[in-house]
Amino acid sequence: MDQHRAPYFQALLDYVDSGVQPFHTPGHVQGVGMDLAFREFVGDNICAIDLTPMPGIDDLLQPTEAIKEAQELAAEAWGADHTFFLINGSTSGNQCMMMAAINPGEKIAVPRNSHKSMLGGLVMSGARPIYMQPEVDLELRMDHCVTPETVARTIEQHPDLVAVYLVSPTYYGVAADLAAIERIVHGAGKMLLVDEAWGPHFHFHPALPLSATNAGADVCVNSTHKMLSAFSQCAMLHHKGERVALDRLEAVLKMFLSTSPNLPMVASLDVARKQMATEGEALLSRTIALAEETRARLNRIPGLYCFGEELQGRHGIFDLDPTKVTVTVKGLGYTGYEASALLRRRYNIQVEMADLFNVVALFTIGTTREAAEGFIYAFEELARDDRPIDMFAPSGILEERLRRGTFRLPAVPPMRMLPRDAFLADAEFVKFRESSGRICAETLTPYPPGIPVIAPGEEITREIIEYLRLELKAGVRIQGPFDGELRVIRVVKE
Ligand SMILES: Cc1ncc(COP(=O)(O)O)c(C=O)c1O
Repeated sequence: MDQHRAPYFQALLDYVDSGVQPFHTPGHVQGVGMDLAFREFVGDNICAIDLTPMPGIDDLLQPTEAIKEAQELAAEAWGADHTFFLINGSTSGNQCMMMAAINPGEKIAVPRNSHKSMLGGLVMSGARPIYMQPEVDLELRMDHCVTPETVARTIEQHPDLVAVYLVSPTYYGVAADLAAIERIVHGAGKMLLVDEAWGPHFHFHPALPLSATNAGADVCVNSTHKMLSAFSQCAMLHHKGERVALDRLEAVLKMFLSTSPNLPMVASLDVARKQMATEGEALLSRTIALAEETRARLNRIPGLYCFGEELQGRHGIFDLDPTKVTVTVKGLGYTGYEASALLRRRYNIQVEMADLFNVVALFTIGTTREAAEGFIYAFEELARDDRPIDMFAPSGILEERLRRGTFRLPAVPPMRMLPRDAFLADAEFVKFRESSGRICAETLTPYPPGIPVIAPGEEITREIIEYLRLELKAGVRIQGPFDGELRVIRVVKE
């Protein structure tokens, strides 16, 4: 196929050129009825291609024309048998792949540190999760991937598993040994589903980890908007082989999609594919070189650490995405949260993510040398500063807790109900402090390390209550609950 073409973007341009008089949605009618200040800011062109499915423009729900061709081009570019454009992120991809692959009550092995959309998939599909523990680096307070040994052990303990679901790479850019895991999973006759939200670029550069499609995943999802150039929310679901029924996957996707997809978003997927297929390797070479140089220069600044190749081969770190630059700021006496706030306040730099020890910055095909220089300069200055309070100093609250080992995650609590049943059951709020023994109806995930300590359907234990209260005291954020301060918790009504 001709990867230089962008058939869907072209279809929208053709419509604009044809001068059709529109009597259809959206109601702003190519910008004419739109608030002027907004239209002037976003520009006439984006309004002109904000159209609706119709003959010649094709329909994402039932593609037969330009979207069909655009998806086929994407499948070829990523080495899949079929590719589907998503406009609700990898979030919807994770949910759809679970609903397509698993029947209610069937078992699926999932890493405990999956993105919360995995839990959405469990709730929607009614699957029974068998949790696999990821490897945790206590020094950097980071969770990594699950190992092939963990996957093999889980299959051995649960021979009735239907599928194995993996997250690779992690938010920190650490990739699992997908080739070895694929051999184990398919060797045992199970399906392999991969959340590759952070790795849409892997397929286009030999220095990047093996892509999930090349590893032979049955279904995988990429957030094209995260590391490539598509608009926010744009993602792709790739399907390979016959283990996951294509007709069921298509039926699920249709149920999830709006009947009025945002067409500029769909077009941005088409052109992001064209860009990667035709110039991806060159663009990524420049990005990788810039990120590697930044990592090396940051590592020369006393007090900073930016992990790289030297960690490769440790448990759960099979390979690395060099374009994720994780700066461990603990040695400067800052928490990642503080460093992130200072970078923003003093240097107008916004990083992707911060946790207790680290800040994570993305280097993508849109990152300029000038921006990288500003990033390095900001850290040089931060390192020169006198810290008023060293958060990690001996006798400081964090150091004390690290020494006592209270950062260790509590044991995974017993599962009393399926996530779906607990999530959909009548619920009530009770005082968190007094909730021991109740069945949780929400997910509580401290960052770091981003591993849920409790998920819907699990019993709240005293150990969990104490652990989370200590985490909160130390300033760790708890994601997921209705009440972020954990005064109350949502539980299944008795
Ligand atoms: C591992 C992982 N999977 C899935 C998602 C969801 O992706 P999206 O934001 O494209 O819906 C995220 C978002 O951060 C993620 O980190």
